[in-house]
Amino acid sequence: MQNTADMFNRISRWYDFLNHFLSFGMDIRWRKRAIQRLIKLSKGSSFLDVATGTADMAIEIKNQYPKAYVIGVDPATRMLEVAKEKIKSKRYNIQLIAGDGESLPFKDSSFEGVCIAFGIRNIPNRKKALSEMKRVLKKGGILVILEFSKPEGIIGIIYDFYFHKILPFLGWVFSKDKKAYRYLPDSVEEFPQPFEFAREIVSCGFKKILIEYFTWGICVCYVAFKEE
Ligand SMILES: C[S@@+](CC[C@H](N)C(=O)[O-])C[C@H]1O[C@@H](n2cnc3c(N)ncnc32)[C@H](O)[C@@H]1O
Repeated sequence: MQNTADMFNRISRWYDFLNHFLSFGMDIRWRKRAIQRLIKLSKGSSFLDVATGTADMAIEIKNQYPKAYVIGVDPATRMLEVAKEKIKSKRYNIQLIAGDGESLPFKDSSFEGVCIAFGIRNIPNRKKALSEMKRVLKKGGILVILEFSKPEGIIGIIYDFYFHKILPFLGWVFSKDKKAYRYLPDSVEEFPQPFEFAREIVSCGFKKILIEYFTWGICVCYVAFKEE
């Protein structure tokens, strides 16, 4: 398996631009909606963003809830450098830590909410990461996961063509990294379908799961609860 953190380090300067460009800006809306759910359903103000990358989720938490205490963790240090610049320009107080989702550098029951956007797909041992996220959550805490999925029907056919042919080409033209933008559709292809993934989340000890489809199911928002 290729080291995805290294891959994200290589494309770190292009990452935000290509995200917004290739998704027609939809990724911004998806994160906004996911964070609305995180803030609305959590009972407190301390949040962890796992696989934070350039910190768009962490920043969105602060946009919506300025008093929140937010930490972002990611193994790709060059992604974190971009994140640092963005956080500084916003004058937000967000702590960034280099770390692995499979072994989170936090004590048990540290946060009221944990989120991970387009990150769980990149972690080799998903169940370990899910168990870690549960461990660092306080009782009654919530986990919000955003991840790509595969829409069905006619939209699925059009999307498939765009996602497998056009997107990797455009990604390569801009970032000059052929592997990175080939990796995206390939990794989504390998990722379990929503109900199968929801079962995985439950098998890691979460109590209740809500699944919400964004934009014809191109993106799925999972909300999972840790027992009270
Ligand atoms: C597609 S980016 C998502 C970044 C950000 N969450 C967002 O919404 O744009 C995936 C991130 O997962 C990170 N990643 C890769 N392996 C990881 C691991 N084992 N633990 C935590 N994060 C990891 C990468 O470094 C990268 O920043």
